[in-house]
Amino acid sequence: MDYLLWKLLPLLALIVSFVVFFFLEDSYTANLFHMKKPPREECSFLPVCHYWISSKRIVTPQGVISGSVEINEGKIMSIVEGDSKHGKHMQQQVIDYGDAVIMPGLIDVHVHLDEPGRTEWEGFYTGTRAAAAGGVTTVVDMPLNNHPTTVSRETLKLKLEAAKKKLYVDAGFWGGLIPENALNTSILEGLLSAGVLGVKSFMCPSGIDDFPMTTIDHIKEGLPVLAKYRRRLLVHAEVQLNSGHNLELKDNDDPRVYSTYLKTRPPSWEQAAIRELVGVTEDTRTGGPLEGAHVHIVHLSDSSASLDMIKEAKHRGDSISVETCPHYLAFSSEEINDGDTRFKCSPPIRDASNREKLWEALLKGDINFLTSDHSPTLPELKLLDEGNFLKAWGGISSLQLVLPITWSYGQKHGATLEQLSLWWSKRPAEFAGLESKGAIEVGNHADIVVWQPETEFALDDKYPVFIKHPSISAYMGKKLSGQVLATFVRGNLVFKNGKHAPAACGVPILAK
Ligand SMILES: *[C@@H]1O[C@H](CO)[C@@H](O)[C@H](O)[C@H]1NC(C)=O
Ligand SMILES: [Zn+2]
Repeated sequence: MDYLLWKLLPLLALIVSFVVFFFLEDSYTANLFHMKKPPREECSFLPVCHYWISSKRIVTPQGVISGSVEINEGKIMSIVEGDSKHGKHMQQQVIDYGDAVIMPGLIDVHVHLDEPGRTEWEGFYTGTRAAAAGGVTTVVDMPLNNHPTTVSRETLKLKLEAAKKKLYVDAGFWGGLIPENALNTSILEGLLSAGVLGVKSFMCPSGIDDFPMTTIDHIKEGLPVLAKYRRRLLVHAEVQLNSGHNLELKDNDDPRVYSTYLKTRPPSWEQAAIRELVGVTEDTRTGGPLEGAHVHIVHLSDSSASLDMIKEAKHRGDSISVETCPHYLAFSSEEINDGDTRFKCSPPIRDASNREKLWEALLKGDINFLTSDHSPTLPELKLLDEGNFLKAWGGISSLQLVLPITWSYGQKHGATLEQLSLWWSKRPAEFAGLESKGAIEVGNHADIVVWQPETEFALDDKYPVFIKHPSISAYMGKKLSGQVLATFVRGNLVFKNGKHAPAACGVPILAK
């Protein structure tokens, strides 16, 4: 016996050293790259990788069907109409959602998460938890109001560092086009090759010191580089007329009255910017010198001449698109109370007839899709006590609420579930270049929201809002229809009945 033991000893030593090596190696790489994936049961309330979800209302590109969706390893494997799931798939786990709606997760391509540098305003953790709770499965983060702004390869790296282990949903990133990188191709190319999905610029002051405005000449410098990388330009399209002096204001105009603010940013500002932009988009047509570049107008408010110019440019074949936001569709200037600075944003919310024309354009497809433009700040900077519209921070917080908002206000205009998923999933996915997202289709990521459109709720103090400062949201106090029951991101059930899965397992999305 002793002899045998001695002979086996080297072998035993070898096995022990292998085990020790692998254990150390694993924790070493995990610490080095912070990349160790949490176990599935922490990422998801459903710790299996192969399962089915079924319902009487599944929104697919071919229409709303009754049936089931097979999910395996984070992807959609099959979509079966009717009750066939109860036949051959009895072995697999099936979650039956009854008549709740199964829809592609929302893709919000205009969100300000403000990290790093202004996490007291929002941040990746609170922002993406709010997204998950609202059925938003992908966000694309804006290059401001984080500090430093995302305008170079180095500052994108800071974003990615800051986002680690904090993403509850997938997140892409826009960079910023500012004079410095517009005039220095190597900085812009560095930013694009580091993986931003496109760049955003302001044609008026952004309100953030390290994000200076671009003129149409800067934009002309940047477009050839964007064409080369086939990335989009997103533009805050307002040009300050009267060199920014509020000639329209009179001494007795009260800054607590919304119409005073409205006068300082007239539709002519949007029109002036869009007129300059459609003057350069001609070259983006197929075969043109800027083919591959694309100009997108963010948060359109003016539904008159601005919209006409965009429609005309599209008609000519220019590569141009436009978004609007739920607050321009839900509210009108007439109903904003004195001092209620929660409603301040730029461009401003205009009158009810402007709003009706925005709806018309959205329903007809002249407006391509919707975004939240979730733009939070501190309650102090919203000046909720003082109520001064001219001094308060502009921006409306809505990230978690866009699905019930669009549904509640859209029903009055006859919006359908299919349209909702076009505006919030399919078209934003195409726009941002997110392959494998935006539709319940075989092969796509299993990014899914399950919700009950008929359930009404009041946005009162007791309602679980996960954004950092719910009190500044213009929607608080409203009654909405449409309750999110469950959210799946790449097959992980990340949100269920008001609760989040323990770990943040969303993935950063970088352009190649
Ligand atoms: C462009 O930026 C790079 C990187 O910051 C810098 O090294 C280079 O000198 C700049 N070029 C010009 C012409 O300013
Ligand atoms: Zn914005």
